Amino acid sequence: MFERVKEDIQAVKERDPAAVTTWSVLLNYPGVHAMWWHRQHNWLWRHGRRGFARWISQVARFFTGIEIHPGATIGRRFFIDHGMGVVIGETTIIGDDVTLYQGVTLGGTGKERGKRHPTLEDCVVVGVGAAVLGDIVIGRGSRVGGGAVVVNDVPPNCTVVGIPGRVVVREGRKIDAIDLHHEDLPDPVVEMFRCMQRRIDRLEARLAGDEAVSAERGEPPFPLRQVPSAEAAGAADEPVAGAGDGESCTY
Ligand SMILES: CC(C)(COP(=O)(O)OP(=O)(O)OC[C@H]1O[C@@H](n2cnc3c(N)ncnc32)[C@H](O)[C@@H]1OP(=O)(O)O)[C@@H](O)C(=O)NCCC(=O)NCCS
Repeated sequence: MFERVKEDIQAVKERDPAAVTTWSVLLNYPGVHAMWWHRQHNWLWRHGRRGFARWISQVARFFTGIEIHPGATIGRRFFIDHGMGVVIGETTIIGDDVTLYQGVTLGGTGKERGKRHPTLEDCVVVGVGAAVLGDIVIGRGSRVGGGAVVVNDVPPNCTVVGIPGRVVVREGRKIDAIDLHHEDLPDPVVEMFRCMQRRIDRLEARLAGDEAVSAERGEPPFPLRQVPSAEAAGAADEPVAGAGDGESCTY
C-alpha cells in the first residue's frame, strides 16, 4: 500500500512543477486524496457493499470536489490536477499514467446501459473542462484539448480538440484543416447530379432515335412534329418504348 502511495506522490511531482515537496502533495492535492478515497470505496463496491460504497464516494466528493463512481476502474499513477468538478462514471476504465484536469467529465451519453462510459488507455491527458462521452476508447498517449466534447473513438497518439472533438494532430503530425479526400465522403448532392446526368443521357439517346425515324419518314424533327388527331392518337395507342425504365432519384 505504501508503495502505491509513494508512486502517487511521485506522479504528481513529475507532472506538476508546482508540487515541490511531499508534504505539499499530501496536504494540497485533492486529486490524490480522491484517488485514495476511491481505493476504499472501490474495494467495498467489489465486495458487495455497493450502497455503502456509493455513500463513501459522496463523502469523498464533499471533501475533494471530485466525483468518482466506486465502480470505475483506475490504473496506476493516475493524477487529477486541481480536481474540482471532475466526474468519472461507473463503467469508466482508466489505464496507467493518465492525467485529468479540473472540470473533466468521463460520462455516458444518457442512452445506454451496461458499459456506457469511456475507456482511456495509458498515458492519456484530458484537458480542462473536456467531456468524453459514451463507450468510446481514447487511444494510448492521446490528448484531449481543454473544452473538447469527444463522442467518438480517438486513435493512439492523437490530439483531439473542439466540439464535437476532431483529431488535429496524429503521431506528431498536424492534420490538414481542409481534408481534400472528398472521394472518401458520401456526397448526396453529387450522387443526385450523376443520377440526373444518366437520365438526361437516356432521354437524349431516345430523342436522337426518334429524330432519325422522323427524318426517314420526311417528318419535321421533334418538337415541330404535328400533334396527332384524336382518332390517330387512339389508333396509335401503343406503349412508348423504354417507358417505365426510369431511374428514381430520391434524396
Ligand atoms: C490540445 C492541447 C493538448 C495542445 O495539443 P498540441 O498537440 O500541442 O496541439 P497544438 O497546440 O499544436 O494545436 C493544434 C491545433 O489545435 C488548436 N487547439 C489547441 N488546443 C485547443 C483547444 N483546447 N480547443 C480548440 N482548439 C485547440 C490549436 O489552435 C491548433 O490549431 P491550428 O492548427 O489551426 O493552429 C492543448 O492545447 C490543451 O488544450 N491542453 C489542455 C491543458 C489544460 O487543460 N491545462 C489546464 C491547466 S490548469
